Amino acid sequence: MKNYKITVLKGDGIGPEIVDECVKVLDKAGEKFGFSFDYNYQLLGGCAIDEYGVPYPDETAKACKASDAVLLGAVGGPKWDSQPGNNRPEKGLLAIREDLGLFANLRPAKIFAPLKSASPIKEEIIGDGLDILIVRELTGGIYFGDRCESEIHNGAERAWDLENYSVPEVDRITRFAMEAARKRHGHVTSVDKSNVLATSRLWRRTVIKIHDEDYPDVQLDHMYVDNCAQQFAIHPSFFDVVVTGNLFGDILSDEAAVLSGSIGMLPSASIGNETSLYEPIHGSAPDIAGKGIANPIATILSAAMLLRYSLNEDKAADAIEAAVNQALDDGYRTGDIYKEGMKKVNGRGMTDAILARIQ
Ligand code: IPM
Ligand code: MN
Repeated sequence: MKNYKITVLKGDGIGPEIVDECVKVLDKAGEKFGFSFDYNYQLLGGCAIDEYGVPYPDETAKACKASDAVLLGAVGGPKWDSQPGNNRPEKGLLAIREDLGLFANLRPAKIFAPLKSASPIKEEIIGDGLDILIVRELTGGIYFGDRCESEIHNGAERAWDLENYSVPEVDRITRFAMEAARKRHGHVTSVDKSNVLATSRLWRRTVIKIHDEDYPDVQLDHMYVDNCAQQFAIHPSFFDVVVTGNLFGDILSDEAAVLSGSIGMLPSASIGNETSLYEPIHGSAPDIAGKGIANPIATILSAAMLLRYSLNEDKAADAIEAAVNQALDDGYRTGDIYKEGMKKVNGRGMTDAILARIQ
């Protein structure tokens, strides 16, 4: 029987409880489809600061590099707000992305049919629906450029962050987006700010070159980021795959997630050449942590992405996604998506409903 090594990073806040639920689903999928898992539990974020003094300990790095994939809950919380900027839980997230070379961040935002009314967009605008895959470059741009926290310039204190992109960085994320589009609806929108930024002009001409040379079958268009933010809200069904840089992708993926009405439901994948990491889009929700009421679906769908992208266990991934849809169709709802007349359950109740529907 195939055995996969998974490093599990529960993290902070609701991280531990949603990951515990998710692991049950992975095990069940393994049982049904003939494989098993070795889980190596390690620390990332605030819990790692408490234990080791740093948010991304060497033990964690070593375990991740030796595993087939990494599953993450969520990191951060008010407890670590007083940590200096370079030792905050979020720094652990940036460090693991850089160290594992997780250059492509996939953030699908879609409307789950049973939750259509939860979207903040009017029905007539939703029209053909919203099903966008955001492909965010994750290890470059302004997130990882040089910065200066404080200096005196012309007699005034200032700070700065440098954005840079190289052709190879844009090249590989573009290819990734083009391949993804071929498996979806064959349409890529590249988002930049090339009317102002030099990095965006290099971005755009590189995207065009890769497209024209190797992906002429894919429909490509370009949009300025400010316009894209508007189009998401007024014409969301225009989009299929959106490819963009690190900072624009951070912002646009939050917008797309909230438009879907299901932020507690959306998974993500951060793909590297050696290993990849899977985590829910939502945060650590410290206000509800420990109560057992958090919605585990985003984490469970992240596990489905893990099966699909890292382990090529497509059938198991399909089965989990179908089970989640069936549980929603059958009326099961955690508090965040609850509507009158539905069956209100806690995190474990939702997981049980999904487990019973994995076929
Ligand atoms: C995200 C988060 C992170 C980011 C933060 C926590 C560093 O907002 O994954 O989108 O900005 O990338
Ligand atoms: Mn973000």
